Amino acid sequence: MSVDTPLFNLRAMEGRDIPSVVSVDRQVFRDPWPESAYVQEIYFNPNAHYFVLELLDLTQVRRWYEPRRRQASRLIGFVGMRVEGFRGHISTLALRAEWRGHRLGEFLLLVAINQAISDGAHVLGLEVRVSNAVAQRLYAKYDFERQSQLRGYYSDGEDAYYLQVRVEDNPDYCARVKQRYEALASDLQVKCSARETQGA
Ligand SMILES: CC(C)(COP(=O)(O)OP(=O)(O)OC[C@H]1O[C@@H](n2cnc3c(N)ncnc32)[C@H](O)[C@@H]1OP(=O)(O)O)[C@@H](O)C(=O)NCCC(=O)NCCS
Repeated sequence: MSVDTPLFNLRAMEGRDIPSVVSVDRQVFRDPWPESAYVQEIYFNPNAHYFVLELLDLTQVRRWYEPRRRQASRLIGFVGMRVEGFRGHISTLALRAEWRGHRLGEFLLLVAINQAISDGAHVLGLEVRVSNAVAQRLYAKYDFERQSQLRGYYSDGEDAYYLQVRVEDNPDYCARVKQRYEALASDLQVKCSARETQGA
């Protein structure tokens, strides 16, 4: 991956990120996680990997567009996953609303899939709201298929679809994910400081 002047940085989520992460969570989700859930995941769950995508240089946001500059926060989005046994699970994925539609969400999904592959997952799954057509389309792009419908899964009573993709014995898929990850990191000018993804 060659990134001459990186705009974004991908790195492991740290304790200092939690206030911003929780604020994005509240902006994005109807049932946001409490701070303690992130503390538990990043400090006490050895099977979990959480990543944040941050803006490196606020002055460069002009390249994207001016309104983002005014409301710019360094933390743009995040993704979280864990692998238990041979089952990987994507627990969260979110991008600030003003940054959507530029493949940054897709990039974060690829980070999680790559991590699951390098952690030895055979399958990777996640839950998504039945009404969340945008996310479902993103997951379908990476071959996640509907396994079941979880009745009343969310606190407001909405159902979830449980989606899954098989990554074991699927070298074409793994190669495609890796190739796309590298292409997007380069196109989007993302510097990857996250140790876990360096070999991805
Ligand atoms: C889901 C989310 C991460 C996508 O991120 P994004 O940066 O906006 O999306 P990208 O620009 O990377 O687009 C990637 C793919 O997502 C899908 N997508 C993105 N925006 C879409 C839209 N407005 N309508 C339909 N599909 C869309 C498409 O499949 C797209 O690929 P394609 O154009 O080649 O078909 C982002 O919308 C988000 O944070 N949403 C709120 C939180 C959420 O729903 N998280 C998932 C919980 S399960």
